[in-house]
Amino acid sequence: MTEEKNREPQKNIDETALQRSFIRLAGALTGQKSQSLGRPLTYCLTTFGCQMNEKQSEAVAGIMDEIGYQRQDSEEADVVIYNTCTVRENANLKVYGRLGHLHSLKNENPDMKIILFGCMMQEPHVVEKIKKSYPFVNLVFGTHNIFKFAELFYGMLLSDMQVVDIWEGTDQIVEDLPTERNYTFKSGVNIMFGCNNFCSYCIVPYVRGRERSRKPQAIIKEVERLVEDGVSEVMLLGQNVNSYGKTLEEPVTFAQLLRMLEPVEGLKRIRFMTSHPKDLSDELIETMAASSKICHHLHLPLQSGSSRILKEMNRRYDKEKYLTLVDKIRKAIPDISLTTDIIVGFPGETEEDFRETLDVVEKAGYDTAFTFLYSRRTGTPAAEMEDQIPEDVAKERFNRLLALVQQKGRERSSRFAGTVQEVLVEEESKEKGIFTGRTQYNLLVHFPADESLLGSYVNVRLEECKGFYYLGHLEG
Ligand code: SAH
Ligand code: SF4
Ligand code: F3S
Repeated sequence: MTEEKNREPQKNIDETALQRSFIRLAGALTGQKSQSLGRPLTYCLTTFGCQMNEKQSEAVAGIMDEIGYQRQDSEEADVVIYNTCTVRENANLKVYGRLGHLHSLKNENPDMKIILFGCMMQEPHVVEKIKKSYPFVNLVFGTHNIFKFAELFYGMLLSDMQVVDIWEGTDQIVEDLPTERNYTFKSGVNIMFGCNNFCSYCIVPYVRGRERSRKPQAIIKEVERLVEDGVSEVMLLGQNVNSYGKTLEEPVTFAQLLRMLEPVEGLKRIRFMTSHPKDLSDELIETMAASSKICHHLHLPLQSGSSRILKEMNRRYDKEKYLTLVDKIRKAIPDISLTTDIIVGFPGETEEDFRETLDVVEKAGYDTAFTFLYSRRTGTPAAEMEDQIPEDVAKERFNRLLALVQQKGRERSSRFAGTVQEVLVEEESKEKGIFTGRTQYNLLVHFPADESLLGSYVNVRLEECKGFYYLGHLEG
């Protein structure tokens, strides 16, 4: 049996206060249970997908902590939560695969609760499958009602049935809910939600809904609070940050938002993701060049180098426009580090089209490129296109692209060999005593250090280039 929860968003209530009252109610139940068991209750939360999912997982973790659960890495926990992604088929397959394992854990501990949320749950065929084949899942919700997590969680604790609450969309942005942070010194900050671009291969606009920007004042307030709390690097997040603010009552450009954040005292680094080439303005390039805080790193997804395929992808730029943009950026910010995303095997892609992609990789000078095999997503226009590319052809092209990307990446990274770079120390690597940090160019560096340096900026001499990372030593 499934219980459908569909409380519509209500504009006339204080949603934050309401959710806080559900945190207290769930906290009381949890406290009782914990007392009767004589141990704290635990949860395990796994995030699939992009940084926006990471950020939303932090919000869910913040609420779980407030309710009184202790986080752990093992799935032998009282509550197991997956924040799902559906951008490519293998993201979905991973979740189904792991659900089988969770089922056996639940057989041993029938009180265990399993919660699925995020992008994959916005697809009706997925929810049908979970209702039918995975009835042991306790709570399912989507991307639009995450702010309601405390309420849904409390409802689930009181219910014997599978609770499902999926909204088709929302225009609400609820501010000021508790949130946990993965790092004390850096943080993602959502500046907008959703996407209006409908690239023909992409499921994101269907599962994340229409573009909604947060007000600049709310973003500035969040950044100021984070900085007060020890954060010095923020990553502004959105599917297309270059169209930030267009739908606000008082429109603001992304470059203006960046300039509003620049004066925040104690903030050292500003990053952002993702920039769509079609909306990248001269104003943004000028703002980046003039700023002392915006990192000289730009993620500028190409997707394909063939103008014909780009048109079929509905990307609204062509090869020439993309390369001209890259030139313009390099002129204004000569030390810029450029990274990209590329899809191989889009329907109808010929060997000639693919060579155009290789040509752009030759010319653009990417520091890193993330390469993906095209994945057919039900419901997107590209899934219906004729001439889907056979897997062996796509894989063969993928391998050629990867080899070129790696070779070019290595060439680009070698420009830093022997230089001293300012690095934010982020974590201890797998090897004890060796720490990992990042330069403003998003380049990873491993070097001997100690824990006291975590979260601080140090100078590191980059000695040995290992492709996408360096080995180095603290300098001075
Ligand atoms: N908003 C970002 C991308 C978000 S999805 C942008 O427009 O650039 C991250 C990446 O996943 C995309 O850049 C694309 O390269 C890849 N991707 C999206 N849909 C895909 C699909 N159906 N198959 C393979 N890769 C895909
Ligand atoms: Fe997907 Fe395109 Fe939107 Fe990026 S801009 S999320 S690729 S539809
Ligand atoms: Fe995946 Fe959703 Fe992000 S589909 S890539 S988690 S927006």
